[in-house]
Amino acid sequence: MVLRTSICSLNAAIFILILHLSNCQIQVDVEKTVVWGPGLKPDEVVLPARYFFIHAVDKAGNKFDSVPPAKFDVQINGNSPHGKCRSNINLIERNDGSIIVRYSISADWCEQVEIVVRYNNSHVAQSPYVVRNKVYSERCYCPQDLSLWLIHNNCPAVDDDKQMTWDLHSFKRVNFSAIRENLVKRYNSPESVSLCHYVVKNQQIWRKCYGKYTGFSMFMDRTLSALGRVAYLPDMEFYINLGDWPLSKKGGQQRTSGPYPIFSWCGSDDSYDITLPTYDITESTLENMGRVMLDILSVQKSEYPWDTKEEKAFFRGRDSRRERLQLIDLARKHPDMINASITNFFFFRNEEEKYGPKVPHISFMEFFRYKYQLNIDGAVAAYRLPYLLAGGSLVLKQESNYYEHFYSKLVPYKHYVPIKRDLSDVIEKIEWARNNDMRAREIVSAAREFVDNNLLPQHIYCYHLTMFKEWATRLISPVVVLPDMEKLHLSYTCSCKEHPIKDEL
Ligand SMILES: *[C@@H]1O[C@H](CO)[C@@H](O)[C@H](O)[C@H]1NC(C)=O
Ligand SMILES: *[C@@H]1O[C@H](CO)[C@@H](O)[C@H](O)[C@H]1NC(C)=O
Ligand SMILES: *[C@@H]1O[C@H](CO)[C@@H](O)[C@H](O)[C@H]1NC(C)=O
Repeated sequence: MVLRTSICSLNAAIFILILHLSNCQIQVDVEKTVVWGPGLKPDEVVLPARYFFIHAVDKAGNKFDSVPPAKFDVQINGNSPHGKCRSNINLIERNDGSIIVRYSISADWCEQVEIVVRYNNSHVAQSPYVVRNKVYSERCYCPQDLSLWLIHNNCPAVDDDKQMTWDLHSFKRVNFSAIRENLVKRYNSPESVSLCHYVVKNQQIWRKCYGKYTGFSMFMDRTLSALGRVAYLPDMEFYINLGDWPLSKKGGQQRTSGPYPIFSWCGSDDSYDITLPTYDITESTLENMGRVMLDILSVQKSEYPWDTKEEKAFFRGRDSRRERLQLIDLARKHPDMINASITNFFFFRNEEEKYGPKVPHISFMEFFRYKYQLNIDGAVAAYRLPYLLAGGSLVLKQESNYYEHFYSKLVPYKHYVPIKRDLSDVIEKIEWARNNDMRAREIVSAAREFVDNNLLPQHIYCYHLTMFKEWATRLISPVVVLPDMEKLHLSYTCSCKEHPIKDEL
């Protein structure tokens, strides 16, 4: 496919005077072109931004690997309580011939919805896509039965997720009545730990937090609220660590008490913490097409095609780990290979003179001007990895004991190139990538495929709900709202169901 493009430009160069350029243009076959994704079933799959994909196919049945000659056009037709169904539609062109289409509806609901996909005025694939039932906005309170929700969303089973299975294997039966008090006693050290206890009962959410810096509980509040709008949550309770470092360390005390079950955004090889998708990727999922600038869909917009990228490794970030400073040394020694700078000094403030000056933040999209992206741990795992994998550059990832919920499914040299923890092989790995450009491209495209299968908004919802459903089955003590818990306001602007039961306790 790459070959085809280059023959094409070769022809164009040689015969430019006698051959019209368009003779060389490959035509899109609107019937063979493929359109798929959860956004085609907006009545079943409710997300903040609905999305689906288009991949252009030519007359010969080959998928395009570059931007097709004309633009696709998408419309959402239908009626809302205020007349015509209004929507916000956004086409994200990836450089491989495929396009992400995402949209949100402005009204609380639309009915008689039809999704129309056209190319050069012709309908594409099975367009128009007729949606049978009412389409509700994600802001509406419309919970579905949880099992049904998991089926509609094609969520993988617990057993099919390595990390979930592994994380839960130490917690087959959890008796919170027996451990609650000691758990809080063990971790309630206000200066270093921030921990919240959540109880979900009858679709209502309650919490109590411990520690000083509990502002991050807003992320879990919003997550539970959003999940509760789309699905009936099981009655359950859990503790979530709001800090960076995993808490439930292996060895020591835990050998006698058994590990305490604690959910965390970052896991580590030496802890029992149960990982959930990070607040970062969850927030960008919940705010997709909303107030976040960077999300897993928008980052796929290909502004820098592979061949235009600079063949250097790029890094920007704060000084949250010694290796990041070591990288600055390396970049100074090899300016032709690495462009790295620190954006903020905090942890090693007294070394700012040596490793500075600090540089202003640049847009994350600008990172992808460079062919190789360095993913180096910060305090814990660097939560940018999902976006780096989606962005169309080759990821060089530092080996690490820390991980997010999806790392166990990543395969070195398939989805990224590993680099040693002490960075001693960074230069060697950049040289390897420069000398193996085809391999590098394959890895980049496998990384994007990984993102498409594991890290899109639907998957982030799936992971939470699959985990919570399973978690609830493991609790053997009764789920009760404790007297000093605060009740959270479930936020929604409209409703297609009875409101949650008002009084409890
Ligand atoms: C669009 O369609 C017209 C005729 O229907 C055709 O002549 C033209 O080549 C098409 N353009 C593209 C870019 O496919
Ligand atoms: C859970 O722990 C409490 C307190 O130790 C105990 O009374 C109760 O029997 C336990 N429940 C089960 C099902 O083991
Ligand atoms: C490093 O990257 C920044 C951001 O793209 C760029 O402005 C700067 O010129 C680069 N430095 C070098 C030495 O190439």
